[in-house]
Amino acid sequence: MITLKSDREIKGMRESGKVIAGIHLALKDMIKPGVTAMEIENFANDYILAHGATPSEKGFEGYKYATCVDVNDEVAHGTPRKGLVLKNGDIVKVDMTVNKDGYESDSCWSFAVGEVSQSTKDLMDVTKKALYLGIAQSQVGKRLGDIGFAIQDFTENKHGYGDVRDLIGHGIQPTMHEKPDVFHYGEKGKGLRLKAGMTITIEPMINEGTWEIMDHEVPDKNDPWIYYVSADGSWSAQYEHTLAITEDGPKILTSQDAEDDAKMLAWAKKYIEDNNY
Ligand code: MF3
Ligand code: CO
Ligand code: CO
Repeated sequence: MITLKSDREIKGMRESGKVIAGIHLALKDMIKPGVTAMEIENFANDYILAHGATPSEKGFEGYKYATCVDVNDEVAHGTPRKGLVLKNGDIVKVDMTVNKDGYESDSCWSFAVGEVSQSTKDLMDVTKKALYLGIAQSQVGKRLGDIGFAIQDFTENKHGYGDVRDLIGHGIQPTMHEKPDVFHYGEKGKGLRLKAGMTITIEPMINEGTWEIMDHEVPDKNDPWIYYVSADGSWSAQYEHTLAITEDGPKILTSQDAEDDAKMLAWAKKYIEDNNY
């Protein structure tokens, strides 16, 4: 069942989203060569608690941490391992879900560690644009397939990357994962019609090589979670926002910077028109 949220609920989710946005903004300055995944985890966990919120991932199906921290070819669900020390040139993705006063929000951001290669910069740039193309398509009356199609055409056909199929966005609120499934690939004009009050995530994972991924065992044998890596070892980027579909267009509930959002959405709208998405 897909529930439509009231303005009041959307406001509550935005307050929750501000907590994650604050963490991601702080991580932009904090992430440097030598920083460990555990330091990122501890910072995020403390920040969430200090802001009167709780980390929804902790305890979710036995997951033990507030964050997922994935580096380079790791695609998703990486645990913040102690031995994971960031090196110059790495790309690190930090994903978390937060609950504040009963309201959920979910966001992932990619960070360059020190000086990264041009190909890593390009991968990050295209993946972030893919997210905003998906957001720009999130209009009342459009369909889920319009979101997926734009992301897939842009990343695969226009840029030759691999658009991960096996992990998807989702409805959100009152729990972390709700209906509908939000695919990052698809066909124009197909799928569920978008309605005002839907709250969803869009979270493309884009690989430099193949879209296929494989399981990687978590080094801690007591941990039931596995994480995913790209099947060919190529590097992967991810950006995720939580958004509300409204009569006035998409509202980014995990927004970090309204000006940057406006710039990205203006670019996306033009791209959608020019390419007839
Ligand atoms: N935040 C993730 C998502 O985007 C959920 C991760 S589940 C966890 O859906 F348990 F691994 F944290
Ligand atoms: Co997430
Ligand atoms: Co999500």
